[in-house]
Amino acid sequence: MNIKKLDFEDKEKNSINSLSPYIGKMRIDLAKYLIKHYSEENSIIYDPFAGSGTVLLEGWALGHEVIGNDLNYYAYVLTMGKLNPYETFEKAEEKMLRYKSLAERRAKIEDITSIPEWIKSFYNEETLKEICSWVYYLKRYKEWFLLSCLMGILHHQRPGFLSYPASHGAPYLRSNKYPIEFYPEMYQYKNVYEKLYNKVKRSYKNVPNFNYTLSRRMFNKDATTIRFKNKHFSTIITSPPYMKSLTYARDNRLRLWFLGEDDWITLDKKISPEKNMFIEMMQKCFEKWAKLQETGDKCIIVIGDINIIYNSKKTSLFEILINLSKNYYTCVETLCDPLPEAKKVVKGNARIKQEIIVVFERK
Ligand SMILES: C[S@@+](CC[C@H](N)C(=O)[O-])C[C@H]1O[C@@H](n2cnc3c(N)ncnc32)[C@H](O)[C@@H]1O
Repeated sequence: MNIKKLDFEDKEKNSINSLSPYIGKMRIDLAKYLIKHYSEENSIIYDPFAGSGTVLLEGWALGHEVIGNDLNYYAYVLTMGKLNPYETFEKAEEKMLRYKSLAERRAKIEDITSIPEWIKSFYNEETLKEICSWVYYLKRYKEWFLLSCLMGILHHQRPGFLSYPASHGAPYLRSNKYPIEFYPEMYQYKNVYEKLYNKVKRSYKNVPNFNYTLSRRMFNKDATTIRFKNKHFSTIITSPPYMKSLTYARDNRLRLWFLGEDDWITLDKKISPEKNMFIEMMQKCFEKWAKLQETGDKCIIVIGDINIIYNSKKTSLFEILINLSKNYYTCVETLCDPLPEAKKVVKGNARIKQEIIVVFERK
């Protein structure tokens, strides 16, 4: 099969895209390329496995209505945050002041004994109480943008973050590297408002000209069962989770805990599927998407370039997708996007060196 190679430099700088980390994010330039090449003006873009909302945010920035979905509640919150920034930093500032007085005056938690030890191990007690209070109010009043910014500063070793020294992507303490005896300042109380203010300010550094009248919707459902009434999605662009190469709940377990989801193990069984579950899930998705699309509509899937045993034969994942979709879709093009060194994922002994982009057309 002829696979065309893409070549990007990741030049894009949209600071709203960096509110908070997410593993397995699509490259921004890839998302933009796919939207520009495979969608019509005014087409609604649907991403059923939206993750951190890269496709949706770029789709919106390029003037499309967007609809997304993800079963991971953290992905839902983060995407809602990206699709609903305040129009100016000044508006965000006003909101922050309102929540500052609420969260600091009417703290939602006085006693932290019921908080799991592993959470407590990341924070100074006063900082932890304050974070819980902020999360409570921001979630209650559906302040997705501020909540996403807060998720983005929960853990790291840099001064702008709220935890004891820790990593930023997945939560691991770095107290061996930064022991309290030598770095006492890293273990002191940190004021949430101050850190959040700076984070929000950074988020407004490079904001595209968004059209706020366009509709942006996001759901927190299973992509195989979500229902839409009388909807037509002329463009689907998505990157499904594949073969447990990434653990979306485990890596975000600290953020998920603050958001009220403490069973990350059960969640990962659903959102980081093994081979058979993945195949079944994709089969159901193609059936579902076929009902939402009309002849000639595009469905674009971005997937890691790996081989698995399928029907007793070593087969590449994208060929399996072509086979699973064949009753409804024709594969009209395949592209590949070599991953930059930092984004390569280890799967067993193999490294996923590139992503394959399969362009399907509804029959
Ligand atoms: C590769 S990631 C998507 C990354 C996204 N393109 C981005 O740029 O951030 C796949 C996503 O699928 C979600 N997911 C897994 N199984 C799902 C299901 N059955 N229904 C909905 N979402 C699911 C995971 O939570 C994960 O966020």
